[in-house]
Amino acid sequence: MRLPPITLPRALAAMLFLGALSSCGSGNAADSFETPGAALFAQETCADCHGADGAGGTLGPALETLSAHWTVSDLSAYLADPRQFLHSDERLVRLGQRYIMPMPDFRGLDEATRLVLAEHLLATFP
Ligand code: HEC
Repeated sequence: MRLPPITLPRALAAMLFLGALSSCGSGNAADSFETPGAALFAQETCADCHGADGAGGTLGPALETLSAHWTVSDLSAYLADPRQFLHSDERLVRLGQRYIMPMPDFRGLDEATRLVLAEHLLATFP
């Protein structure tokens, strides 16, 4: 199976992130990322699959009603090891079956970073 070309969007996200950093403090409301969590969402390739606005895409589901299913700490644990949750969560199994690739693990991110991301997700897609 050919992997979809996620490398370019990732490079693009990194460039946008650096661009946002360099314009920090300008007070420009049009800055791409208003919070560290939003920057992580783009930088860590989440947006490649879930869409820049979290509305979903070919590779990942829309992020919505997350607070009905997740606490901050569970979500942080999910990001580190999504597969671990598939044993106990039928909804996630069904969600995953619609996409060619499973949700990748982000165990490379330390817990503090995952918590920032989890807070961002719950605040943005409650
Ligand atoms: C390669 C595509 C891909 C990437 C990259 C990706 N995801 Fe996912 N994500 C999925 C898929 C597919 C699912 C469906 C469930 C599964 O496979 O475990 C999912 C599920 C989720 C869920 C659960 C949604 C629900 O309804 O409970 C959350 C939250 C989530 N992803 C957040 C993220 C975040 C945050 C990132 C970046 C750190 C990210 N994803 C990166 C594909 C992706």
